[in-house]
Formats: sequence, structure tokens, C-alpha cells
Amino acid sequence: MKKTICKNYEKMSEVAADLIVRQVNLKPNSILGFATGSTPVGTYKLLEEYNKAGKIDFSEITTFNLDEYYPIFRSNDQSYYYFMQKNLFSNVNIKPENINIPNGEASDPDAECVAYDEKIKALGGIDLQVLGIGRNGHIGFNEPGDELIAQTHVTGLTQSTIDANSVFFPNVDSMPKRALTMGLYSILNAKKIVILINGANKAQAAKRMLCGGIGTDSPASFLQLHSDVTVILDEEAASLI
Ligand code: PGA
Repeated sequence: MKKTICKNYEKMSEVAADLIVRQVNLKPNSILGFATGSTPVGTYKLLEEYNKAGKIDFSEITTFNLDEYYPIFRSNDQSYYYFMQKNLFSNVNIKPENINIPNGEASDPDAECVAYDEKIKALGGIDLQVLGIGRNGHIGFNEPGDELIAQTHVTGLTQSTIDANSVFFPNVDSMPKRALTMGLYSILNAKKIVILINGANKAQAAKRMLCGGIGTDSPASFLQLHSDVTVILDEEAASLI
């Protein structure tokens, strides 16, 4: 895995945004995989600025997001659909029909997951997948546990993730305890992966992912199996490496 250690969050976001710009300039109809969470917000803000400045054109881009709570209405301001609209999609010239996010309103979530993988495959696979990492080493909603699932699937959330994310909901009871997530195969099948890690509270997860063996206790450690991963960290996240 290639590692880039940046002075701070702003620099990390710049490096990530530049990678995405390079990808799209080389292949204007790229298929991009996007993540939610606080980590990529700075990168998305820069992409919005670069789009307005004519440095990146989203008109031919197709996107697939990693995950979504289940069940959740798109109109819920904590849905990842809402997040992506607010933080990126409504601010750039992407075509709405080219945006794919697992549907938290699906009546048959298992069928939704199968269709999601089929669509990624039919379009030729993801060219560049952007990832964050959970404090517990999760990627997407692939949580640490005894086993990991390869394909896009419905999953329960661990207590660590519920604790981390429930603060954004009015109360813990209103937070969905399940999610739809791309699985490890779906993620590792991307041609290139860039994972962003910032803050001291991610230092342990970064160390485990980069310096330990491959294990289901750290879903992110499976990225060691991929031949084109760029890890972009700020100094705090890199402090234990
Ligand atoms: P965060 O979430 O960017 O809000 O820290 C990342 C994740 O849980 O994957």
C-alpha cells in the first residue's frame, strides 16, 4: 500500500481531491466509488470548487456509494442519500441518473443488494473507490466480527458504530441498527482504492490496518490484498505507525 502522510486534514483533502481530478481527467466517464462520514467532506468541498473552476467535469461520471442505513427515508437528514446530495451531488454537474446509493427505502433489501452488485459489474466495475475507516477498523459497514461478507449485503451495526453515529440522530432509538453495504469483494474489486484517515482517534485503526496481518477483526486490513491502494493520513492518524 502506498502511504502519504499529510500535515493536517486540509492537506489530506487536497491530496485526495487531486487524485480524483487526475482520474477523471484521464477517463472522463470514470466510475467513482464514494464514502460518507466526516472524513471525505473536505475532499468533496474541494471537488465542488474545482468543478466550478472547470478543473473537473462530472457530466460523464457515474458514482456508487458504499453504504446506507436500513431502513431509512432518503429525506431523513441522516441518510447517506441526503448527505451525498448536500455535500457533493447537488453542488456539481453530475447527472442524477448516474448516481447510485444503496436504497434504504427498498422493500426487499436483499434483492436491492444483488441488483447493486449487478449494476456495478454491468458498468465495468469501479475505477476509483474512496474510503474512510471506522475507529473499529470497519470499511463501509463491514464491521469487525468472526466473518466478513464478500458481496453487497444487509448487515447489523456493532455497538461501536452505534455509539459513534447515534449522536447525529435525535436519540439512539431513532437510529437504524442495520445497513446495506458493499462487501469486501465489491470493494476490493475496484481498480484503484484511496483511503483517507485523519485524527488521533483513528491512529490505532490505521496501525492495525497497515502493520498487522489480515484479519476479520480489522476489515480494512484486507486492503493489503489489493495492488493499488493509496493511504492518505494526517500526522495524528499516522502517529502510531
Ligand atoms: P468518519 O466515519 O469519517 O465520520 O470518521 C468513517 C467511517 O466510519 O467509515
